[in-house]
Amino acid sequence: MVNEHWDKMTAPEYLQFTRKWIGACHKVLKDTGSIYIACSYHNIGEVMIVLKQLDFKINNIITWYKTNAMPNMTRRVFTHATEFVIWAVKGSGWTFNYNDLKKINPEKQKDGTEKQMRDFWELPLVQGKERVRGKDGKALHPTQKPEEMLKRIILASSNKGDTVLDPFLGSGTTAFVAKKFGRDWIGIEKEKQYVEIAKKRLGL
Ligand SMILES: C[S@@+](CC[C@H](N)C(=O)[O-])C[C@H]1O[C@@H](n2cnc3c(N)ncnc32)[C@H](O)[C@@H]1O
Repeated sequence: MVNEHWDKMTAPEYLQFTRKWIGACHKVLKDTGSIYIACSYHNIGEVMIVLKQLDFKINNIITWYKTNAMPNMTRRVFTHATEFVIWAVKGSGWTFNYNDLKKINPEKQKDGTEKQMRDFWELPLVQGKERVRGKDGKALHPTQKPEEMLKRIILASSNKGDTVLDPFLGSGTTAFVAKKFGRDWIGIEKEKQYVEIAKKRLGL
């Protein structure tokens, strides 16, 4: 939830919207395909209800621990330092490239050997060179996701030549990472200014 007009709906409107877009994804997803939905404490309830109603199987709820989360200005609640990524599948034949994820896991066993990737990802909010900025240095998209997050998702659940769809493309992170790792991609974004950012990032 950010202070953008696309993120201001009443609770019933939001549930209806969630049903509509996840239902549309269900239709186009292959039986062996995966869906990953990034969400926060604001909307994880609605997303889970809809996934269950559509008979998706929930494989994991990944916790993204934002190592550089903003402090809470109200001082009336704990600092929000986590978001979630729900991984759900349609059928039982999903792809999980377990060994590739082990290889890229920064966490190691005590003896330095590879370790299974856990469902707890410690990643900073995007900053530095990775952050897409305008000439004035201001970030061009309010919720740009870390490339490392998309790398883990895409390497885990797809293979070269597979197609990755992001119906809320934003600054284009999913497409950028999909392209980098040899996946085809489809991106949908309703704000023209973000489409332009994504196109530029993708060299289109
Ligand atoms: C949370 S942001 C995605 C950020 C993206 N993952 C990134 O790394 O930049 C959600 C995006 O969805 C777009 N959006 C919202 N409603 C939409 C809709 N109905 N159809 C297509 N795009 C939509 C917004 O303009 C926004 O850019």
